[in-house]
Amino acid sequence: MSLHHIPTTPFADQRPGTSGLRKKVSVFQQPHYLANFVQSIFNALPDYQGQTLVLGGDGRYYNKTAIQIIIKMAAANGFGRVLVAQNGILSTPAASAVIRKYSAFGGIILSASHNPAGKDGDFGIKYNMASGSPAPEAITEAVFSQTKTIREYQIVDHADIDLSVQGQTLVGDMQVEVIDSVSDYAALMADLFDFAAIKKLLASDFRFCFDAMHAVTGPYAQVILEQELGAPQGSVINAVPLADFGGGHPDPNLTYAEDLVEKLFADDAPDFGAASDGDGDRNMILGKQFFVTPSDSLAVLTANAHLIKGYQAGLTGVARSMPTSQAADKVAQKLGINCFETPTGWKFFGTLLDANQVTLCGEESFGTGSNHVREKDGLWAVLFWLNILAVRQQSVADILRQHWAEFGRHFYTRHDYANIDKKQADILMQGLKDQFARLPLHRWGDFEIQHCDDFSYTDPIDHSISREQGIRLLFSNGARIIYRQSGTGTEGATLRVYIENYEPDVSKQQQDSQQALAPLIAVAQDVAKIRELTGREQPTVIT
Ligand code: G1P
Ligand code: ZN
Repeated sequence: MSLHHIPTTPFADQRPGTSGLRKKVSVFQQPHYLANFVQSIFNALPDYQGQTLVLGGDGRYYNKTAIQIIIKMAAANGFGRVLVAQNGILSTPAASAVIRKYSAFGGIILSASHNPAGKDGDFGIKYNMASGSPAPEAITEAVFSQTKTIREYQIVDHADIDLSVQGQTLVGDMQVEVIDSVSDYAALMADLFDFAAIKKLLASDFRFCFDAMHAVTGPYAQVILEQELGAPQGSVINAVPLADFGGGHPDPNLTYAEDLVEKLFADDAPDFGAASDGDGDRNMILGKQFFVTPSDSLAVLTANAHLIKGYQAGLTGVARSMPTSQAADKVAQKLGINCFETPTGWKFFGTLLDANQVTLCGEESFGTGSNHVREKDGLWAVLFWLNILAVRQQSVADILRQHWAEFGRHFYTRHDYANIDKKQADILMQGLKDQFARLPLHRWGDFEIQHCDDFSYTDPIDHSISREQGIRLLFSNGARIIYRQSGTGTEGATLRVYIENYEPDVSKQQQDSQQALAPLIAVAQDVAKIRELTGREQPTVIT
């Protein structure tokens, strides 16, 4: 085996975004592009000689090619062992679980989440720490800084590893172990949830459907839901992971999970439906003709955690990203625990989880999770819900109605304007900031702005500061409008507008959320001049 030092030159566009580096596949296929980034990760990390690296991805196009390159680079850079998932398939939460279980130094996850896959689709790569958490900004910025000065990378000459069979091989001095993708994760789920109770529920006349959207969760869902919990065969649909996700857009929301939505809103709909995304960290929860917003889902899980085996000891606290609705805050208040508000992106929950300040956390973008790993976890959320349903023996809709009656309802929606001109998006955001001084006390009907700012966050644990995390218009009645630009897109800009209003009156809680929020949606468009500046009459996606 020979070690090569390959001369290279920097690429200017390798700054990681909300969740690692995401680009078109064709960008990653440029000579040295992936290798430069991987070497920059290694260069930014201290003392990993002889240590273990976990490696896997969501199975999208270029996954296996990238894995072979990274194995050879890890060997050249002195890692002692690589744990790589069979066939390269490792969901993001499973990767986090494996890193923690085997006390690895860290892990590399190859994924662009729900972004479309295939030759013309997107690819992505991110680094996770020994805790299983996505690298914090200090590390991602250090990686970025390495990408700007890189002059060479190291790689060994070696035959490709057969990823299809479990077992061990030596690559130089480094051991490569191909591991089962599912078993460690499935064992963790069995520790947290009452599998016997869920099994009983699934054996009754309860009907449910899980949509894996041809992405990474198919094998996990088949083993856990069908084989271990006894759901009838076929309960998991679109179960085979495909390199192009079957041409779909595996983002579990009402727009993209069409197959599931059609089933759950039909006359003979099952009792429960759920979907996960490309890399298995997101989830959507549906009842019979009923949609649970992710913000409400976090609140319901928080309120019902005492019913669940793995959380019976109580919650230390809960955290939500800033744009996520304040539904969980109400529950936390009642439980007498803290509710933290962090910037968008799972990496901000890591310090709070590590310091045991929070047990559950979630984002409005269909992400929910807990201290069992350091990533959001789609199937975990589905099992949590199934466990609640098994204990409470009520429908999803009844659970939500009861929840709103007790805590009030936070009507919530997010409007995305995808792929707009980046310059116009910047002008729109600047235009909002320019109005900060005069917006307070401005009235639109019942709505009066009390405060506006660009959200800035000081991490309570490591005291790091993250600025410019989203523009907030906070109204005197508790309503909020938030604007931010996506940090995960690969083309143009995506403007996200988050709109929320609180309704404590039970008699007004049953409206459709778009209708209930219509006056506030109009304010959001008006203040930011969305139509004028983007040329768009309608949002691209409403969730
Ligand atoms: C989006 C979501 C965010 C999530 C991230 C990764 O980021 O909004 O909540 O953590 O994907 O799944 P954005 O594109 O908004 O930067
Ligand atoms: Zn994802």
